[in-house]
Amino acid sequence: MAKLGVNIDHVATLREARRIHYPDPVEAAIVCEGAGCDSIVCHLREDRRHIKDEDVRRLREAVKTRLNLEMSIAKDIVEFACKVKPDQATLVPERRSELTTEGGLDVEGNLAKIKSAVDKLEGNGIKVSLFINPVKKEIDASMRAGSGIVELHTGEYANAKSETSRKRELKILNEAVEYASALGLEVNAGHGLNYDNTKDVAAIDKINELNIGHSIISKAVFIGLAEAVREMLELVR
Ligand code: PXP
Repeated sequence: MAKLGVNIDHVATLREARRIHYPDPVEAAIVCEGAGCDSIVCHLREDRRHIKDEDVRRLREAVKTRLNLEMSIAKDIVEFACKVKPDQATLVPERRSELTTEGGLDVEGNLAKIKSAVDKLEGNGIKVSLFINPVKKEIDASMRAGSGIVELHTGEYANAKSETSRKRELKILNEAVEYASALGLEVNAGHGLNYDNTKDVAAIDKINELNIGHSIISKAVFIGLAEAVREMLELVR
């Protein structure tokens, strides 16, 4: 059975819209764990646009399942991770102007730098996952980089515009999971997964964990909105 990691970045995005102290991503993590998720994911971006250093430190204290820190291989971020010691680090490419992580790492093209970050993090007792596109060349490069885990980018599948391309992308994911797990890698997947497209990915044999953020936080707005209005009405009246 596939596990679920919940990415709580967007709770911090909402907080940063006002630059105040709520909603608190740590409180969100506790709620997600209470609902049965298997891990908590957050991304400490170099521009600190949502999650801040202090959030990661507080999450480290509060998270009882596993803390998976998404991060770039920038030197200061790697050093920060080595100090805070999340259970897992997921290395992702990062561009300042992007809305969200676009595409997987070019592991083959940056092998020495990525391997050095993997070695440093693993030397500090942190498991490392590499966020890659579901292609053999990147899976092979991930083996060479020495990470025991890969996370396959599901963006192409999630963004497919027709049933034919959705099926084609699902097949590509299936084959990549098969290939990577035959090499002995633990295989996770994520990006753009929502209430319509997740079931088929979760059903892929040997998939270990799905990391999902935006769709869950979006759904929570509507599941919780009526109750939030009722509570405020009670105060107002
Ligand atoms: N996995 C990785 C590596 C990501 O960068 C992200 C986005 O932060 C996710 C999963 C979650 O993607 P989404 O918010 O689209 O569910």
